[in-house]
Amino acid sequence: MKRILLYSIVMVLSLALLGGCKGPAEKYAKTIENLKAAFKGETTASAKYAAFAQKARQDSLPQIAVLFEAASKAESIHAGNHKAVLEKYGAKPDEFTPEFEVKTTKENLQAAIDGETYEFTTMYPDFLAVAEKEGSADAKKSFTWAMDTEKKHAEFYKQALAALDANNVASLSAEYFVCPKCGNTFQAANVEEKCSFCMTPKDKFIDFK
Ligand SMILES: [Fe+2]
Ligand SMILES: [Fe+2]
Repeated sequence: MKRILLYSIVMVLSLALLGGCKGPAEKYAKTIENLKAAFKGETTASAKYAAFAQKARQDSLPQIAVLFEAASKAESIHAGNHKAVLEKYGAKPDEFTPEFEVKTTKENLQAAIDGETYEFTTMYPDFLAVAEKEGSADAKKSFTWAMDTEKKHAEFYKQALAALDANNVASLSAEYFVCPKCGNTFQAANVEEKCSFCMTPKDKFIDFK
């Protein structure tokens, strides 16, 4: 009887120890898939906004072009942060070719609003809930920085679309700043002394004008 009890205790302890020693691939399995999806989304958004910026320049809408250029950079920073977490967990992004369509600047702005809104209302909240459950602080940070930035981008795009509709594009900000660490994006009039997401000082921000 004693021997059975001892055997049971050893088994339970071994299983608990094994559980605690799970590698990142197992421990963060769903988060790794989500990081790959987020990397793909951000990389596609970055390429798409760069193309939308070119279209806005051709249309002589420099304020809208500069917004797309700044947002394109921000998305590439998000992609880089997601990739760094993947690599920390011994994984890497899947190979893919970004797919998107360039239409009129008005349609491009609407597509950008739709994409950002999906990301900050659905995709990132879902990914964050999983990262929380799996206990990945690194993914939570990377997803939160992206989600909070996408909220701001959606707002900037809405302002730009409204100004375009009102034939008042000249009233829009002609300069943006992007935090190189987290992708936080600012209109020049509202730039912060330190990034409120990651505390990077203003002198490190990337200037778009
Ligand atoms: Fe964005
Ligand atoms: Fe930042």
